Amino acid sequence: MQYGYFDDSAREYVVDHVEVAQSMTNYLGTQRMGTVISHNAGGYSWLDSPQHHRITRFRPNGVPMDWPGHYVYLRDDDSGKYWSLSWQPVGLPLAEARYEARHGLSYSRFLCEYEGIRGQQTLFIPREEGEENPVEVFDVKIRNDSGRIRHLSVFGYVEFSFHEIDMDNQNFQMSLYAAGSHYEEGAVLCELHYEKDAWQFLAGNFMPDGFDGVREAFIGPYRTERNPLGVEEGKLSGSLELGGNPCGALQRKLTLAPGKEARVLFYLGTGRGDAADRARKRYDEAGTDRAFSELKQFWDEKLGRMQVATPHENMNRSLNIWNLYQSEINVLFSRFSSFIEVGGRTGLGYRDTAQDAMCIPHAEPDMCLKRIRQLLHGQMREGYGLHLFDPAVLERTKEDGFKSPTVIPEADRKSMLHGIRDACADDALWLIPAIVENVRESGDTAFLDEVIPFADEGSGTVWEHMKAALDFSYAQTGSHGVTKGLRADWNDCLNLGGGESAMVAFLLVWATNHFLDAAKALGRREDEKKYTALKETMEETCRRELWNGEWFLRGFTADGRAIGSREAREGKVHMESNTWAVVSGTASREQGLSCMDAVDEWLYTPWGLMLNAPSFVTLDDSIGFVTRVYPGVKENGAIFSHPNPWAWVAECVLGRGSRAMKFYDALLPENQNDKMEIRQAEPYTYCQFIMGKDHTAFGRARHPFMTGSSGWAYYAATRYMLGIRPGFSTLAVDPCIPAEWDGFEAVRRWRGAEYRISVKNPAHVEKGVRQIRVDGADAAEIPAYGNGNHLVEVIMG
Ligand code: GLC
Repeated sequence: MQYGYFDDSAREYVVDHVEVAQSMTNYLGTQRMGTVISHNAGGYSWLDSPQHHRITRFRPNGVPMDWPGHYVYLRDDDSGKYWSLSWQPVGLPLAEARYEARHGLSYSRFLCEYEGIRGQQTLFIPREEGEENPVEVFDVKIRNDSGRIRHLSVFGYVEFSFHEIDMDNQNFQMSLYAAGSHYEEGAVLCELHYEKDAWQFLAGNFMPDGFDGVREAFIGPYRTERNPLGVEEGKLSGSLELGGNPCGALQRKLTLAPGKEARVLFYLGTGRGDAADRARKRYDEAGTDRAFSELKQFWDEKLGRMQVATPHENMNRSLNIWNLYQSEINVLFSRFSSFIEVGGRTGLGYRDTAQDAMCIPHAEPDMCLKRIRQLLHGQMREGYGLHLFDPAVLERTKEDGFKSPTVIPEADRKSMLHGIRDACADDALWLIPAIVENVRESGDTAFLDEVIPFADEGSGTVWEHMKAALDFSYAQTGSHGVTKGLRADWNDCLNLGGGESAMVAFLLVWATNHFLDAAKALGRREDEKKYTALKETMEETCRRELWNGEWFLRGFTADGRAIGSREAREGKVHMESNTWAVVSGTASREQGLSCMDAVDEWLYTPWGLMLNAPSFVTLDDSIGFVTRVYPGVKENGAIFSHPNPWAWVAECVLGRGSRAMKFYDALLPENQNDKMEIRQAEPYTYCQFIMGKDHTAFGRARHPFMTGSSGWAYYAATRYMLGIRPGFSTLAVDPCIPAEWDGFEAVRRWRGAEYRISVKNPAHVEKGVRQIRVDGADAAEIPAYGNGNHLVEVIMG
């Protein structure tokens, strides 16, 4: 069953059955201010940090699950009927009112037709030069289609947060006296009294006919956002108070002749009356239109850096719009603001951030580099990364910022550093391909010599940081000579400690390959020699110790027991070890074909590949927490999305384009738009996981947007399936596609030049390039031109 459809020309997903069981998510903001917003206008905003600078409040894991939000109510002042422009919170019966929600790129629009009134609310955060005074604009349009004069009230409403998430969620004997409400020049202000100059506001492009600054006054006793007293009575009470729960509610009365339309703008931002005034001037009607079209242009330009036209409509839709968009959101907001991650874990997850920054350097070069620099700073001299850290704490020179009056000890630099006991074996290794991919994209090899501090002591060039990560991993080997699993590897729930992880060993080989590519390009011969030797030894060890006859083991427990062997009854075949054996180039061709066949046989489902099968059912702490997770859920036998693209890459390495596409198609959210009664999650974003075969809810997807599968899906599909890969000095086009494809077209901007790529597949092969022509002439390779438009023709065969 479908709850919505794709409107590709507008780059929107349209929810036309707003009663969908799980709310559908979007993100607003492309710079400092962000908002997570549902298709029912539920959600919350922040500036810079959803933990330390929350603007509006969210009640986590509540019922309904996406309340409160950034709401606009309408009231017919003649009849007293009232409703909201998003279906919720008022929730009119859908037989009486027509509702639709449109999620676009960094904006969301809610439409409603009821009682002859057409209402539309668009939420977006304009881009600002200097990013000084960001606001969220509620652009409201009301049209009278009823054929008679209407007297209406429009209400904008938000609930402010206490700024610090700790203050917001606990210790209310203190928190309830931390914030107050004020009214200045038509704006309702929320003052964070314990902080210096901390204010937030809701204002409109009008002098209000009424306002409320106290939540309880607006909502009224034993009511909710569904039936607020102020709206029901059509009159706000002008409430203000020092302490309590501040809100922003503004009323605007309108008289609308038949056929007429009115426009009302609200602004949500930080600052006080002068900031509200600035917003009013900057985003009057013309300014709002300008800002909205600038936002569109921003995305046009970004998406224009790579566009594809393949025979696969949903692949085009994903790569050209939603997959890249989701990957950008991850790089921009890190991973800690959603309806699931509710904003209390500010910082960077080391491995997640490194992978996010590896995958889309063409679209988000500055932000990817910024993240990489932050991660380099979060690396210990010994080579491992700080698993979860807040770069702001590392960068802080003196202790300042918010001090809670209830004395919550703050993390200082020192307490953020952790020892090897808490180190994850894979974290810093991801940084190497991330760095190298970014340099391949930009051509800026000087970055490799930039000096960046380590988290604990001293500093080193980016090159030295990479070597530290490699040296650490090559030294961390167990009794079989395979790298240790430590606190965890990519799989948080596989906790091997001194046991050994096949996945980390293969990842180490892959990271070394990237490093060696850079060493060759830069002529760093000594390093090339040293790390080639280390890598070859590790590869031999892996082939010897981890091959099981049909597939690769997942590793060994600290007491030497094999995990993921043919003899095992649970946790028999694992995705991470088998895909990475191939991706890293360690597996021989025969091994690769055999182990990826085992992946297909044991792990494939029509919803994607499961992480392992059969699920673990016997508790075994020497394997890890994974054995305590319900079968078919998360890391224990779910279709964990993130590793799925590793299998697509592996199949492309093996040259099996149809198999890669089979796996790609199973996970592709856009393919599941008509299975929403099972999927129960956005069909335009990859989700963290999908319940596996061993669970009763098999096929149900969970946790949209915030997942490494997004970046990896984009990376695998564009670089391996379509095969368009920047190198240090040339662009490779080496596709691996289904044999029935006649070819495909793509436009790729790279280092200032635009490449119009046309791939032809006359012999209907899955892989292999017979001929390349650049600008009409036969060519051995595709150079980095630096400018101009270039036609690249690739004939497969
Ligand atoms: C979560 C974590 C990620 C980890 C994965 C598998 O998605 O954010 O770091 O790799 O789970 O455990």
